[in-house]
Amino acid sequence: MERNRIKLEFLVHDLKVPLAVIEAGILSLLQKQDKYGEFIDKQIKILERALRNTIVTRTLVNDALELGRSSQGIINKSTFTPAQLVLQTLTEVLDLTDHSVADAIKECASLADLKTCLSGHGLFLEVDDTFWTRDLYLDEGKVKQIFRNLLTNALKYKKNRVLLKITRSERHLFIAVSDDGDGIPSGYHKKIFECYFQMDMKSDHCVRGHGLGLAGVQVLLEDMGGELSLESDTGKGATFSVKIPW
Ligand SMILES: Nc1ncnc2c1ncn2[C@@H]1O[C@H](COP(=O)(O)OP(=O)(O)O)[C@@H](O)[C@H]1O
Ligand SMILES: [Mg+2]
Repeated sequence: MERNRIKLEFLVHDLKVPLAVIEAGILSLLQKQDKYGEFIDKQIKILERALRNTIVTRTLVNDALELGRSSQGIINKSTFTPAQLVLQTLTEVLDLTDHSVADAIKECASLADLKTCLSGHGLFLEVDDTFWTRDLYLDEGKVKQIFRNLLTNALKYKKNRVLLKITRSERHLFIAVSDDGDGIPSGYHKKIFECYFQMDMKSDHCVRGHGLGLAGVQVLLEDMGGELSLESDTGKGATFSVKIPW
């Protein structure tokens, strides 16, 4: 690895420690109010918000390291289920945008419950009951990062609905994320995968993007031997479909 890249990754790596200290500090303030003193509701809300954002930052730091690892061709396979993948990713993403939904998800006792709960918020989940709890053996960090980026985009650009579809074949895992937003004109289908490219800088979102998400998704997918396809046109929403070999 070239020296500058090592320095940069080292720096990112070292961010983990102060972040963990911040996270643990906020958590203990919230959990040990009997010891440190009680907070009023407003203070609790602020601390919870700070905690959520610390967790997001931790995820981003891990993602940055994962991209670095990936470009070295390192694959780290483990066992996880579609249920874990979907629940963890949805909770992470929705915690930022709509944490009442994130809280509601945690209460769902079954897949059917979850589907009903999500559909009430314009999120539609299509996955087989039998597949939902089946073990997958893939690089979980990479798969999650891919899914999270596509989901974040869909939620950002949708009008009313997002559809998540997870299926499998003998040899592949398929994840499709669709939204009913303005879509992407065919002339931009290549460009949006380039680093720092954004069709238009939407300013009405709380977190500004950097046009790095899809470029990262491509890198991770290539390293797993996967493929991504995009079906979209102006005014027709967008469907990003991912195919990952076992
Ligand atoms: N679901 C989508 N609907 C419409 N446009 C999209 C969608 N996903 C991505 N794009 C376009 O592709 C660009 C690049 O996306 P991405 O790499 O995730 O960057 P970012 O989210 O940081 O803007 C976005 O700025 C947007 O213009
Ligand atoms: Mg994005």
